[in-house]
Amino acid sequence: MLTHEQNELLTRVGPGTPMGTLLRQYWLPIAAESELDDRAVKPVRLLGENLVLYKDLGGHIGLIDRHCPHRRADMSFGFVEDCGLRCNYHGWLFDADGRTVEQPYEDVALGNAQVRDKVRTKAYPVRATGGLLWAFLGTGEPPILPQYEAFSWPNGFKQIIISEVPCNWAQCQENSIDPVHFEWMHSNWSIRLKGQRGPYAPRHVKIDFEEFEHGFLYKRIREDTDEKHDLWTVGRVTLWPIGVFLGDHFEWRVPIDDENTLSIAWSFQRVPLESEPYVQERIPYWYGPTRDADGEWISSHVMNQDFVAWIGQGTIADRTKEHLGRSDLGVGLMRRQLFADVKAVAEGRDPKGVLRTPPEGGVIHLPISHYDRYTRGLPRAELLAHPVLGRHLRGYPYQAGQPREVQEALWAAMGVTPEEMAQPSARQAPQAA
Ligand code: FES
Ligand SMILES: [Fe+2]
Repeated sequence: MLTHEQNELLTRVGPGTPMGTLLRQYWLPIAAESELDDRAVKPVRLLGENLVLYKDLGGHIGLIDRHCPHRRADMSFGFVEDCGLRCNYHGWLFDADGRTVEQPYEDVALGNAQVRDKVRTKAYPVRATGGLLWAFLGTGEPPILPQYEAFSWPNGFKQIIISEVPCNWAQCQENSIDPVHFEWMHSNWSIRLKGQRGPYAPRHVKIDFEEFEHGFLYKRIREDTDEKHDLWTVGRVTLWPIGVFLGDHFEWRVPIDDENTLSIAWSFQRVPLESEPYVQERIPYWYGPTRDADGEWISSHVMNQDFVAWIGQGTIADRTKEHLGRSDLGVGLMRRQLFADVKAVAEGRDPKGVLRTPPEGGVIHLPISHYDRYTRGLPRAELLAHPVLGRHLRGYPYQAGQPREVQEALWAAMGVTPEEMAQPSARQAPQAA
């Protein structure tokens, strides 16, 4: 349970708020890189700020104020030039650093840069890695952009899935350190959704949490596993401060504002040996729906089930009314760390997970189970018959709504035919996250 004041501290992320200031210390994923090939200018809302993301004709990527500093026109209707984004109202042109590069009438009438130099628009740096665009909304020197090892794995088909979830970011991220929910929200609820009464999934008998440089590890022993199982020896990664890493995919919960969260998932599937070498020219992205045609929340896939939980907690979960149990040790750890980080930032120190020196070898190695699955290809026949990887070829396992063209691109990369994919795969319960 938190006090009302603590809940406000945890959840409010707008400019000037302590948690907003903390989250502005990190590079945050905000879009797929390939989105800007389809649409040069995209309105975005991040941490309560209205912005536009664009790629100009010279390939520079900018993230600037949604409103023109001249007379506040909407820059999402602007058009890109060789260098910068031009407002469609009176033609003022801004570059990715926020400089006013042109003021067409003033430049003629006044013939000097006097006015122009006085006007800047808000601008934040953007970098690309892993097929994602990352923004730094803080002040001062940005930290080092995290390069996760998985981003550099060769011979994989990657895709990015984006959804807007109408609730506060913190309840989404608390789900990233909550091992027991998997048993109920995913395994058992899925059984009930199929109309069956059981048998239910093996129960959790022991959980533990461990801090490390880039977050926390959550570990579990279930009735069907022991201390030698990777669920205990390795665990799963709560990625600081807004993510989770599960080997074949990352998920981030990026605050849009206090009441909405951008879910961004990054997924990797290894091609079979026969398809090597495979180079993916462009990482596809798609927007995952949260509601079905009847307006009901979708509950068929793991992440959609998570969305249902988060949204169900209320737009901003009221933690003054909760009763934490033994399964919530990780949730407590997360909150304490966030509050300690808020304090660190207020005192001028870096919070947890901010990188100021490059990791050894240039990439961050996160703890991972089944490393071989992602880094060493299987023969095609074995991949198709694999109880987990084979099933994942037949349909995206984590979120509903994968477009047919992305599915077909995956199959082409894997060298499999739609007819083969129509065959039933070995059945397997959802993998523990
Ligand atoms: S409002 Fe943008 S140029 Fe006038
Ligand atoms: Fe979940």
